[in-house]
Amino acid sequence: MQVCHSVRELRAFLAHHPQAKVGFVPTMGNLHAGHCQLVTQAKQLAEIVVVSIFVNPLQFGVNEDFGSYPRTLAADCEQLEAVGADVVFAPTVTEMYPDFDGQDLRQAVVIQPPALANELCGASRPGHFVGVATVVAKLFNMVQPQVAVFGKKDYQQLMVIRALVRQLNFNVEILAGETVREPSGLAMSSRNGYLSATEKTQAAQLYQQLQRIKQALLAGQRDYASLCKQAVAGLNQQGWQVDYVDIRRQTDLTLPDANDQAWVVLAAARLGGTRLIDNCEVSL
Ligand code: PAF
Repeated sequence: MQVCHSVRELRAFLAHHPQAKVGFVPTMGNLHAGHCQLVTQAKQLAEIVVVSIFVNPLQFGVNEDFGSYPRTLAADCEQLEAVGADVVFAPTVTEMYPDFDGQDLRQAVVIQPPALANELCGASRPGHFVGVATVVAKLFNMVQPQVAVFGKKDYQQLMVIRALVRQLNFNVEILAGETVREPSGLAMSSRNGYLSATEKTQAAQLYQQLQRIKQALLAGQRDYASLCKQAVAGLNQQGWQVDYVDIRRQTDLTLPDANDQAWVVLAAARLGGTRLIDNCEVSL
């Protein structure tokens, strides 16, 4: 497995395999079983799999965890080697953003994603999806993959990336990877590492609330607002600070009406100092 820190090195490696189908898994590192599954998925479709590891300053708000986000390159590389990744691309901030410091957007060429990016997580994290869309567009230009795999755990991100690819004509197929969960139901996330042992047990409550809404939808309930309100109240009572619980259309995250048959229930909430997100698809 080759580790590249510069775009030049990455391009030199890829130039040696001009005919190979390239698969790509973008990450911010601190990898877990969910990331490994995305790599395995990419391996099944591509001859060369590139995994990027880059903690992207542009997608963090000023009071967020950019500084403390775990950087664990050596351990990440061990895991990636074990699942058969071919290239790890781990650029520095200066390599990724040569003309600005990664913070002051006025110096940067950025991608403005569609209005969906201002709802749900975009409402609680203004500018987050501008950062995501910009770095992913840059990574696509650097890696030039034929296929890229994104986890469904970041469901809204997946929709923003699909819009980016469609509207900017990137020649890449976007695939979705299923969320990998702890036995408790807690979705695997790099941010789970911030939780204390007690909080980690409690964190499964987010998944449980989503499951309650799923069962209610399957049982025919269509009062979406009241289902979400109950879940928010339940989480608040259990000591969470809820950003949102919402039910949207699976296809494009627009608001469903009573005739819809395929939804995604999405939630974001803080437990102690840790913000967690999760979602579950529900189809009749
Ligand atoms: O999902 C993530 O880890 C990040 O948002 C991504 C897609 C790697 C962009 O920085």
